[in-house]
Amino acid sequence: MKFFVDTADIDAIRELAATGLLDGVTTNPSLVAKTGRDFFEVLADICAIVDGPVSAEVTATDYDRMMAEGRRLSGVAGNIAVKVPLTWDGLKACKSLREAGIMVNVTLCFSASQALLAAKAGASFVSPFVGRLDDVSEDGMQLIRDIRHIFDNYESLQTEILVASIRHPLHVVEAARIGAEVCTIPPAILHKLAQHPLTDKGLAAFLDDWKSTGQSIVGKE
Ligand code: E4P
Repeated sequence: MKFFVDTADIDAIRELAATGLLDGVTTNPSLVAKTGRDFFEVLADICAIVDGPVSAEVTATDYDRMMAEGRRLSGVAGNIAVKVPLTWDGLKACKSLREAGIMVNVTLCFSASQALLAAKAGASFVSPFVGRLDDVSEDGMQLIRDIRHIFDNYESLQTEILVASIRHPLHVVEAARIGAEVCTIPPAILHKLAQHPLTDKGLAAFLDDWKSTGQSIVGKE
């Protein structure tokens, strides 16, 4: 499973990229607004750190302007995936941008029928928002199961499932069980994936016992 980080915060991206565990980045207009910075400067900074896909979302809602914005965004770097909303104009723009050889992430997906349309439009990624579905008492992970099932029925559908709106580590584990190709994860939740109280407790005990031996593996400082 590929891990993308869901943020436009350069420091957080740099820190996570240094682990070697990061396969890409997703941004959205809200995340960019949080930085208070120029969108194109933020994108250029992210693309200088990360080789994998970096999603940059259009803000136009009509086809012509989505195409113009998509072309401009994709000009920032070769690894930009233009993000378009799951609307008719967005699907049309997806098809045209893909024909122009540009990666496309179709976002704001909340149903299996929408995901099927995104795949038929040739999307590189479709982003179902599991957390926002859970928020309205719908089963977000069931949507991921449904999309996986549908995509597996048709070899011609090559779109990757990019699980978005992740709220806790179990969303990631369940998405991996189902076989989604990608999760985009907020930095704080990525950190939580590594945490376990028994790891901390076990390490503290090992270090105490080791100290009592008076030995050193690489020599004393
Ligand atoms: C990812 O592409 C989405 O923009 C993001 O995961 C949305 O998450 P939220 O529902 O926590 O805002």
